Amino acid sequence: MNLGNPLHSANRFKLGLFGLNVDNACAITTIDGVFHPTWDNVKRLTSMADNAGFEALVPVARWRGFGGVTNFNGACFETFTWAAGVGGATDHAAVFATSHVPTLHPIVAAKQATTIDHITGGRFALNVVCGWFAPELEMFGATIMEHDERYAYATEWLDILKLLWTAEDEFDYDGRYFHIKRGFHQPKPIQQPFPVIMNAGGSGIGRHFATKHCDMIFIHIKGMDIEAARRDIDEVRTMARKEYGREIQVWANCYCVIGDTDDEALKFRDWYVRDKGDWQAVDNLVRVMGLQSGVLPKEQLEGAKYHFIAGWGGYPLVGSPLRIAEEIGKLASVGLDGALLSWPRYEEGLTRFIGEVLPLVEQTGLRKPFPAQQKQRSA
Ligand SMILES: Cc1cc2nc3c(=O)[nH]c(=O)nc-3n(C[C@H](O)[C@H](O)[C@H](O)COP(=O)(O)O)c2cc1C
Repeated sequence: MNLGNPLHSANRFKLGLFGLNVDNACAITTIDGVFHPTWDNVKRLTSMADNAGFEALVPVARWRGFGGVTNFNGACFETFTWAAGVGGATDHAAVFATSHVPTLHPIVAAKQATTIDHITGGRFALNVVCGWFAPELEMFGATIMEHDERYAYATEWLDILKLLWTAEDEFDYDGRYFHIKRGFHQPKPIQQPFPVIMNAGGSGIGRHFATKHCDMIFIHIKGMDIEAARRDIDEVRTMARKEYGREIQVWANCYCVIGDTDDEALKFRDWYVRDKGDWQAVDNLVRVMGLQSGVLPKEQLEGAKYHFIAGWGGYPLVGSPLRIAEEIGKLASVGLDGALLSWPRYEEGLTRFIGEVLPLVEQTGLRKPFPAQQKQRSA
């Protein structure tokens, strides 16, 4: 892997933005101030994070919304073209594309990825997603594969990408799903042997796929139990090391609500979730997720609706700036390498995070002040 990619920076705890290509980003709520995917908004927010030293910008692969009054995530930008545009508008962060493997031939995906890796000077990363939201995949005219078969398909798909990225000679590939005749791919990506690969599978088979084939995995912090997360993180790292002889980064998805006080932040969250949440959209989301994904059993998904509305079921970072910095410290102490963040009022939240939380995190030594941000602070 290319050590120039910021995902390999020395910062002990890395930070990324999640969802800056889909309407409402990660908050399933009707309040004002949520993110809307105009290109001006994308450029402004990704640049803010880039200048503050964030390591990752991760979009969501989505093809249709979840209904409800907001049709949550319905309006959205395609992620490879998003990554190419964001890559051209930023200088530092790793820019991800998120690929639903059944929607894109691996030769096309490899070529798009290589192109963006060149646009960004080696800052591209790929989130490999098998797909679980049946209505959007059915739009392509195919029935969604059975859960574990999706990972068999993704394994061939990713094998072909890696072959294209690395093989100096032409190759044939005869798999169960793909047949490649005289596979050829030039130029090669800038990152050697190939770009960073992420997968966020939460099921048993998803975890094996990620630990065997990918560089980054996400864990779901179940029941918001930080000690259980420690065990889970150890388990994933041990699986990667013992079964596949690999080191892997472990991240989590978190949502962030910042107030002057903890109480103010908690009350605000309760208001935008309970009073203003799009409960119809979250009902739809959780119903399909319960049938199609292996992260949480159905009963637990029911109970997780509140946090899905608050921020895609992420781990809550809710409170004063000091509280949030402390929570980030806890996440690092149980062994996480980084977190993807989102805010209900994205721009307001990101601005406050950079101004008020980031300096506190830097004081703990988990991150170094970023030169561009330091310049702004002293100006
Ligand atoms: C941080 C993160 C990002 C994800 N991005 C997407 C996405 O863009 N599109 C999608 O359909 N699923 C996405 N997923 C879902 C996962 O790829 C995976 O399908 C899900 O966690 C269920 O796991 P399983 O496939 O092992 O059952 C994401 C999950 C996480 C935690």
